[in-house]
Amino acid sequence: MKVINVAIDGPAGAGKSTISRKAAAELGFIYIDTGALYRTVGLNALRKGADINDPQSVIATLTDELKVELRFIDGEQRMFLCGEDVSDKIRTPEVSSAASKTSAVPEVRKFLFDLQKQLAKENNCIMDGRDIGTVVLPDADVKIFLTATPEARAERRYKELKEKGMDVKYEDVLSDMIKRDYDDSHRAIAPLKQADDAVLADTSDIDLQQSIDLIIKIIKDRI
Ligand code: DC
Repeated sequence: MKVINVAIDGPAGAGKSTISRKAAAELGFIYIDTGALYRTVGLNALRKGADINDPQSVIATLTDELKVELRFIDGEQRMFLCGEDVSDKIRTPEVSSAASKTSAVPEVRKFLFDLQKQLAKENNCIMDGRDIGTVVLPDADVKIFLTATPEARAERRYKELKEKGMDVKYEDVLSDMIKRDYDDSHRAIAPLKQADDAVLADTSDIDLQQSIDLIIKIIKDRI
């Protein structure tokens, strides 16, 4: 039976994971968050004491013993590192930064490539990331590039952090967002960019529910 693959790429803070998760639930597809895979490899490198800024040191952590697994528990993706559930541990700022740096190492991307391909081959899915429509699933049935202005994304992230009781300044969140955009779209390997055949969805001026409805409509119109 042919499976349906939807690729959603876009910059940090565009709401990809929340929107993709809800759209997948509505369509009865599984949702695969590929950022979590990079985060798990980043966590492993930190735990192994690698120098995150040194590609060779990171490559040395990609051993035969390294097992990165994705399991679905009650429909939710959980990440396992050598059998340990690390789904919460990969969400710290330290791991975000490690994932950002280690994901620029070609060997890390190669290490995770087959796993992503296999998951897509076996499941109707929405897979989100930075290079899904361009590199991982160039033949995806639907490709969406989900974005919003840096200001809109920073505003949302700022509100989220404030609600968590964190003491942050909007200007810092915005400059961090602009820096991450630059790093993600200027790296030598698999940079963030819209695939030629991707539909552009800009959520700057619409709320979360409208964004979910828009993505579901784009997908339903094409499958
Ligand atoms: O989406 P996220 O913030 O959880 O992703 C964590 C890091 O992994 C981010 O810095 C970009 C990188 N990443 C990537 O290079 N390719 C992907 N397909 C997904 C994430």
